[in-house]
Amino acid sequence: MALTELAGRRVLLGVTGGIAAYKAAELVRRLAEAGAQVRVAMTENAARFVTPLTFQALSGHPVRLSLWDESAEAAMGHIELARWAEDILIAPASADFLARLAHGLADDLLTTLCLASAAPVYVAPAMNQQMWANAATQANLALLRSRGIGVFGPAAGSQACGEVGAGRLLEADELVQALASTRRPRSLSGRQVLVSAGPTYEDIDPVRFLGNRSSGRMGFAIAAAAAEAGAAVTLVAGPVHLATPAGVHRIDVRSARQMHAAVMAAAAVADVFVAAAAVGDFRPQEVARHKIKKRDDGGMTLELTQNPDILAEVAALPRRPLLVGFAAETEHLETHARAKLERKRLDLIAANLVGGGLGFEVDDNSLTLIAADGTIHLPTAPKRELAHQLVDIIAQRLERREATAGVASA
Ligand code: PMT
Repeated sequence: MALTELAGRRVLLGVTGGIAAYKAAELVRRLAEAGAQVRVAMTENAARFVTPLTFQALSGHPVRLSLWDESAEAAMGHIELARWAEDILIAPASADFLARLAHGLADDLLTTLCLASAAPVYVAPAMNQQMWANAATQANLALLRSRGIGVFGPAAGSQACGEVGAGRLLEADELVQALASTRRPRSLSGRQVLVSAGPTYEDIDPVRFLGNRSSGRMGFAIAAAAAEAGAAVTLVAGPVHLATPAGVHRIDVRSARQMHAAVMAAAAVADVFVAAAAVGDFRPQEVARHKIKKRDDGGMTLELTQNPDILAEVAALPRRPLLVGFAAETEHLETHARAKLERKRLDLIAANLVGGGLGFEVDDNSLTLIAADGTIHLPTAPKRELAHQLVDIIAQRLERREATAGVASA
């Protein structure tokens, strides 16, 4: 994983007591892969779920458990460890730990380290959904946030206790991304970014639709990267099975016309519109009220009508945002993409080859960014890496556009 932001970074991982503690083992591995130096401190309760030896083997360093461990203190005292850390990440952070941290307690090693360190502290809560929803937990979180403590997650879904709701620890990968993002410049701070993602479904009858293979991954990665860069992000999502990226306002739609309405409602205030959705160009002229039955002659003709071109309509707004389109092509990538750039009057188009295992539904992609002033190739990488590169380029273009507008109006 090419996460240069964490290369050489000294990360103190705090593990507290909860069933999600086992996921912290994978987190140590992922942090190390991203180049971080990792030391682990556990609460006594965390050691009931996973043994310190597991973390010692994965981090390559002894694990700290107690303030009163004489040999550990002789090797690296807790104050030294607090000074050593450049980031403190508590994952999982239990409700009890959050309460103790919020109230400034220092009755064990981990809370003491948090109080004694000048490093930024991030917590990744994990608990039963009722505990998460409890007013006491939320008040503690609000207090911690107000003091600048970063909160990663939690995710929602089925829980180890059998309940369903918010309170799941983010996956190791997501936590590494979240920590890396704190190191990135907030190049879109104060900007409004609108992103469309996923497919559209055009109903034929109550059980059938016309759709496409878009999974939404590319668009969701762009929304996440823009939010991490400080933008206020609205994500208009077609029917996909993806979690909403942290801090992103999501609007779910199904058809191209619904996507059109949602995008047009948000576009007037957007500084940037990234159209990563694979919008159906056509829809059935009529949607049958009942399931269409097989005919004896074996054939069937479907009358189609054209959907609105969302990008082209946003381009025609009097105050148009910076427009970034996508071109999904199976051949002549640059030629077709350049034609779309010009026809839709875009500032930038991200062209990708699709089909045969490329572009759609997969985690990796490669993009060719084409603008009137040049072309940049972004080689194959995970979509979220490409999304960060694209967001950097968008931020530079926004600044350049405003500088040019400023010169023109002066
Ligand atoms: O979702 P994933 O599985 O991660 O896959 C990512 C992707 C391949 C879908 C994505 O990278 C991509 O290429 N998205 C655009 C797909 C597409 O519809 O391309 P197009 O060449 O048909 O459309 C050109 C542009 O016009 C696109 O920005 C599209 O959003 C926009 N459009 C198209 C039709 C329409 N009616 N309105 C539009 O705004």
